[in-house]
Parts: sequence; structure tokens; C-alpha cells
Amino acid sequence: MCGIFAYLNYNATRERRHIVEVLFNGLRRLEYRGYDSAGISLDADPCEASVTLSSGTVLPSPPPLVFRQEGKIENLVTTFYHDADVADLDLQKSFTSHAGIAHTRWATHGQPSPVNSHPQTSGEGNEFLVVHNGIITNHMVLKETLLKYGFHFESETDTEVIPKLAKFVYDSLNEELANNGGDKQVVPFTQVVMEVMRQLEGAYALIFKSPYYPNELVACKRGSPLLLGVKEVGDKRSDTYVESDLLAKDHGKPKEYYVASDANAIVEHTKRVLVIEDNEVVHMKDGAVYIFKFEFDKSRQLLRPASVQRALSTLEMEVEQIKKGNFEHFMQKEIHEQPDSLTMTMRGRLIRGEQKIKGVLLGGLKDHLKTIRRSRRIIFIGCGTSYNAALAARPIVEELSGVPVTMEIASDLIDRQGPIYREDTAIFVSQSGETADTLQALEYAKSNGALCVGITNTVGSAIARGTHCGVHINAGCEIGVASTKAYTSQIAVIIMLALALGDDSLSTQQRRNAIIDDLYNLPNKVRDVLKLDKDMKELAALLMEEQSLLVFGRGYNYATALECALKVKEVSLMHSEGILAGEMKHGPLALVDETLPIIVIATRDASSSKQQSVIQQLKARKGRLIVMCTEGDAESMCPDRTCRLIEVPQVQDCLQPIINIVPLQLLAYHLTVLRGFNVDQPRNLAKSVTTQ
Ligand code: F6R
Repeated sequence: MCGIFAYLNYNATRERRHIVEVLFNGLRRLEYRGYDSAGISLDADPCEASVTLSSGTVLPSPPPLVFRQEGKIENLVTTFYHDADVADLDLQKSFTSHAGIAHTRWATHGQPSPVNSHPQTSGEGNEFLVVHNGIITNHMVLKETLLKYGFHFESETDTEVIPKLAKFVYDSLNEELANNGGDKQVVPFTQVVMEVMRQLEGAYALIFKSPYYPNELVACKRGSPLLLGVKEVGDKRSDTYVESDLLAKDHGKPKEYYVASDANAIVEHTKRVLVIEDNEVVHMKDGAVYIFKFEFDKSRQLLRPASVQRALSTLEMEVEQIKKGNFEHFMQKEIHEQPDSLTMTMRGRLIRGEQKIKGVLLGGLKDHLKTIRRSRRIIFIGCGTSYNAALAARPIVEELSGVPVTMEIASDLIDRQGPIYREDTAIFVSQSGETADTLQALEYAKSNGALCVGITNTVGSAIARGTHCGVHINAGCEIGVASTKAYTSQIAVIIMLALALGDDSLSTQQRRNAIIDDLYNLPNKVRDVLKLDKDMKELAALLMEEQSLLVFGRGYNYATALECALKVKEVSLMHSEGILAGEMKHGPLALVDETLPIIVIATRDASSSKQQSVIQQLKARKGRLIVMCTEGDAESMCPDRTCRLIEVPQVQDCLQPIINIVPLQLLAYHLTVLRGFNVDQPRNLAKSVTTQ
């Protein structure tokens, strides 16, 4: 939900202005994860003497500076450069080594305000500072205990217990050491962090900074994503360096470290990354990275930290992916990218074999297809757009696999504790791979013994790692908060899954071949349908003042109706409802009059004749209709030409939702721009929902 970022330059002299800009830029790249407040922490100017706090505590280095602001990142940037404290700050001051941390927030506990923003602090002197993504479920208990020990809380956040706990742990461990005759400074930073982790419950990715450990950072995680990027300064070949060079202490060779919630904030600096795993504690110190495994025994006693050897991997993304290019907004760019994202999704997975035998190859599933075919039931589980994608592909999975398919919204499954059995296959669909509800449903399905399959867009995400097997949709990173290209790629992947499940059946060979042929052609068809952009802009201009929009669909395109309504409401803030056309007469018909705009999706398939009668019935009530139909069907769908038409190319019925959603995504996009709302950062939303 939030984005965390850190930048540590080791033995690489950098001006403070540069450091600040790296932090701000990291936040800009993560802003889609949360955009209601932000903050950074920097080192103060070094001073000769140690600093004594009013409590009598002596700090070996001056308290780090903290700047926090509510609103968008640019608000923080503007106030930072206008802040009275900053006026006294020498932005040209050089630091040979410096550890900065930063945060962009989507509020969960406490309203957006400077005091609720991160970094959160242990109190006077900023002895411990923390940026956090996730949620601490036992924060109330911890807070009660810390209050008893005299800590004062100033924010309403769950996070504030973390730096305060760190300060408490630090003091206790040092006292213990002193009692045993040890030196106060030898309690390692990682020991403090691990003891804090031992007490925390919930999900988190954390970065710690402290004046007791100048030029050091500790990052750790459990449940929320975190990456470390490493770059050797001054060497353009750093991307080809072997990991031992980059992670080990290297005779003072200058290095730069970047820690971030996702790769978007790292890729412009380096492609050499370490995907930090759950319960790992990463310590950046003196030009080296030390990784420890955090473990405790049954009585929650910490086990001796085991040092872990990890290899760096190379990011397979390009800087262009995180930029808007020639587009005004990321959502617009991502809608127009769909011919390419679909190509990437299918690359290497479609086979045109000998003797007209065609098939698909899903490497991550090949050893599990038999088990899935034999399942008693396939259950698709997801939230929002990801749920809709699974719903769109459900009929073809049923048809080609012959296995009953049910649908579950993740939160509802958890609320009901719906039955899941070991004979079930549970398929988790999630763009981010880190949605809290979906993750919880995954834990639940696993504990019930189901085979768990992941369909995500994020390699190394919690869902990708937590499932038994799966498929990456390879749509490329999606930055617009409203999901567009991930939706079409998710449908394409599930259709390929259906083809793979059905490929032991001779009777469906012809049908499968036809779908595979159309899959090959799909990017071109999407390219064609994108040409409706201008028409959709005109339609948006007609609809922009409306209060409400209904969308009727059925069969394969019930999901299209739901997804169109979701897009329209979440970005353009216009009320919109997707309705199963078969349900029209059971209530929604009462809404119909000559003013309310209604989109009816009536492209050619087994249910289009039924949609034709829906159109007639709506017209009989003077409904204001916009009909989406197959090219050439305008006459039959709306003989009196009283409806506005969106004509789209025809593909195999199961692929039609991919084509049909594109003009509707464009409609939502243009409606939003015309209504003057923020397309990429819709009100109150964030890209990945890591809280329940
Ligand atoms: C809507 C949208 C959301 C997500 C939902 C699940 O445009 O993006 O509805 O689809 O929050 O997110 P993922 O797919 O990351 O699990």
C-alpha cells in the first residue's frame, strides 16, 4: 500500500542536493503505491562533539533530519525547498557516505498529516527512524507496553511502535551488555532489528536508520515486498559485475545501494538486484551487504542469526517501461501498449506443431496439468479487475477442461471460510501478487490442502512464491492505478491454461486450433480496435456530465460489463454498474428511462440473440443505448439506428472480452480527463492493496 525507499552512498562523495533528489525520485517512482503523504530523512551536518539529548542520552552523531508532508510527493518537494529549516541547510554539502530513507503513504491508521507520515521516530533525537509498508496487527498491545515504559506517542499510526520498540530494545540490550561488562557500542544494528521483528505481528517491509549506526541501514521484511539494488560507482559495467564483487566488502570501492518496495525505483540506477525474502535482514555497512535469516524457536526465542549467501539477479525491465513516453498518462500508455503486452504474454507459449497439431506450453504448469485435470473443482480467487479477468475466462476453462469452475472474491471467501478441499485446484489471480485478501485466501487454501496456482505479473511476489506452481503474465510493469494491460494479459493466460488443460481431448482439437489461430492474431486485432480512440473520446464528451452509467453484458462479456463499470467508477468517479443482462428484468429495468445512458455489449456469440432482445426491451422503455456489436452487425442490432454504436472486430468468442474491453478502457480514460480528475492516481486508491 505504501512505498518505501532508501539510498546509501558508500565512499562515493555526493552533495546533499543529489541525495535529496535521489530520494524524491525514488518516491516519484513509487507514488502509485500510495499518494496521500510522504517523508524523507537525511543526515544532519556532522559535528565535532557528541550530542546530548534532554533525557541525558548521548548520541554519537547528530539526530537525523526528518521532513514530512501530507499530499502528493511534489507537495513534499515544494515544502522541502521552501522549508525554513532547509534554508539553513547547506544543499551543497558533500557526504562521502550517507544513508537516507523515504516513504510514500496510503493511509491505513490515521489521516494523512505530517505527524502520521513516515519516517516514524522513536522520539527526541530521532534515535531510531523507520519507514514501513504493511500493517502491524499487534500494535495496540505493543503500544500499551511501551506507554508503561514512559514512551509518548504522537501519531495515530501502527508504525510508530516500531521505532519506539527499537529504542527500547537498544537500551535494554546495551544495559544487559554493560551489566556483563561489555562495551555499549557493540550491540549490532541487526540484533536490535531482529529483536524488534520478534515482537511484531502482521505484514511489513521496514528500513531502519539510526544515529547510533551512522552510514548504515537495516532492511527486513515479512509479507511485503522489498528489493535491494547495488551499483559500483564509476563503473558503467556494474550491471555485469558478479555478485560477490557487489555484495562483499570491497576495499573501500565506492558503491551505491538502493532499497525499494519495487523495481521501478531501482531500474534507472542499476539492474543488479536482490529480491529480499521473508524473514531476511539485510545490513548495509562499510561497503558490504550482510544478509541474515531471522528465526525463532517455539517459545519465540531468537535463534542465533544464520548468515545467508544470496545471488544478485538482473532486472529484466527497461527504464522506458517506467516512463510515460509520448503519452499524457500511464493509463493511456498502458491501454495503447496492449498489442505489445499481449505479445509478451504469449511469447514462446503458443505452438504450431506438425500435422496441424497446435498447442500451448506453460512451463510453470507442465508438471501439474494432470493434477488440475483430475481436480474435483477449479476455484478462481482474486479481487477487483483480477477477479473480472478470471470471470471472463471461466467459460472456456469449463468447456475445455470439463472441470467445474467456481469463482471467489478473496475477501468473501475468507469472511465465509468457504469450503475448500484437497481435491480442489485454487487459482490465484493478482497483478501485483501482493494483495492482502488474495494472499490470505492463498494461506487458507493451502492449509486446506488444495493445489494452489498463481497467475501474477510480478516475479518474486508473495503470491508467486507462495503458490505451488503458476504462470507469469509478463505484461510489463503496470503503473496506472487502474489495471488495463494486466487485465487483458490475465485473460490471455487463463485461456492458454484452458487450452493446455484440454489438450488431451481429440474432440476439442478443432476448437482449440481456432482459438490458437486467433491468439496469434490477437495483437493485430487489438491494434485495430485501438483506432476507436477518437470515437471513444467523442462518446466521453457526450457522457461527461452524466451521474451514472449502466453496462449490460452476459456470457463471456458479463465480465466486460463489470470491468467497464469498475474502470469508469474508479477513475472518472462517475457511478457505474455492470449488470448481467439476464438479470435485467429482475430489477434493473426499473432504472431505465430516456436519460440514463446504458451500454449493451452484444458482440456475436452464443448469447447475442438474447442480447438483441435485451436491446429491444430497453428500447421499448425509451432507453438511451450505446450498443457494442461486431463489425457489420449494426443493422441487425439496431435497425432504426437510434443507438450509438461501437463496432469491434470479431474473434473467437472466448477472446472477445479482450477486444471488447479496449474501447471501454479508452472511454473511462477520456471521461476522466474530460471530467478533470487524476487518471493515474484516483482518489483514495493505491495500486496494490496490502491491507485488509
Ligand atoms: C482496478 C484494480 C483493482 C485490482 C485489485 C486486485 O483497476 O486495479 O481492482 O485489480 O486491487 O489487485 P491485484 O491484481 O494486484 O491483486
